[in-house]
Amino acid sequence: MDPAPLLAWYRRRRRSYPWRQAPPDPYLVLVSEFMLQQTQAARVVPAFGSFVARFPTVKALARASRRDVLQAWSGLGYNRRAVRLRETAVKIVAEHGGGVPSDPVILAALPGIGPYTAAAVASIAFGVPVPAVDTNVRRVVARAVLGVEGKDAPLREVTSAATAWMDGTEPGAWNQAVMDLGREVCRALPRCSSCPLQSECAFRRRGRADGKPARKTNRSIAAPFEGSPRQLRGAIIRILIGHPVVTIGSISRATGRPASLVAEIVGALSHDGLVMAGPAALAGNRRGRVRLAP
Ligand code: ADE
Repeated sequence: MDPAPLLAWYRRRRRSYPWRQAPPDPYLVLVSEFMLQQTQAARVVPAFGSFVARFPTVKALARASRRDVLQAWSGLGYNRRAVRLRETAVKIVAEHGGGVPSDPVILAALPGIGPYTAAAVASIAFGVPVPAVDTNVRRVVARAVLGVEGKDAPLREVTSAATAWMDGTEPGAWNQAVMDLGREVCRALPRCSSCPLQSECAFRRRGRADGKPARKTNRSIAAPFEGSPRQLRGAIIRILIGHPVVTIGSISRATGRPASLVAEIVGALSHDGLVMAGPAALAGNRRGRVRLAP
C-alpha cells in the first residue's frame, strides 16, 4: 500500500485536535495519549486544554499532589489513568532527567503505558516508525491491506502489514491518520464514499464494503454508563476530592446507591490504591470511613 493518499487526506485535517502541534511537544503527546486510552477524542479536547493549562510541563505534573491531578482529570473517568500519568511524570523526572523517553520499550516500562500508548507516543512525538495498533487501527489495516475484518486477521499479521504500509514516512502522521480514518470513515459500517483509500482497498475490491454493517453493531456499548460501577467509582472519587473524610452512609445518600454496593466499589478503589478505607467501611457499615489515598 502507498502511504501517500492516506497522508494527503490527513494533511488537510491534521489540525483537528489541540494535541497535534508542530513541532510536537512530547509531554503534550503523552498527556493526550493517556486521555485517549479510554475516552473519545471529542470528549478529550476540553479536558486536555484545562489539564495542560494547569500542569504545563512534566515537572509541574510530577510536583502536583494526587488530589490536584485527580481534580484536573475529573470528567474523563477511569481515574487510575490520572494516578498512573502522575507516577509516570515522577519517574520521567527522577530517571530520565525530565525528558519523555523516545524508545517504545522504555516508554512501555512506565506506569499506565502499554504497547499501544508507547507506540503512539514514540511515533507522534519522536517519529519512531512503529504502528500503534488498537481495535480501530486493526480494522482499517485488516480491511484495506488484507481484505478481511480485524477479528479475522492475526494481530501479528496486521502489525506487519501496518509497518510495511507506514513505510517509515511520517510515522506519527500515519498513525493518527489511521486512527482518524477508523473513527470517522472506516467504521463498523464503513463510509467508503468519503474514504481516501477507495481505489486501493482490498475489502472494497472484494465487494465486502457494500454499506451493510460489517458486523452487528451494538448501540448499547456506546450508550452512557448510567448507574454502572464505573460511574459510581467516578462519583465516589469526586466526593472524596471535595471532602477529607466521608462515611459509606453519606456516599450512599449522595449517590442513591445501597451501602453494600458503595462498600464493594470502595473495596475495589482501595485495592487499586486510590482510596483508604477502614474495616468497617469495607464491611458495608454506614459509619465506616473513607478518604482519598495520599
Ligand atoms: N486516539 C488515540 N490517539 C489518538 C490521536 N493521537 N489522535 C486521535 N485519536 C487518537
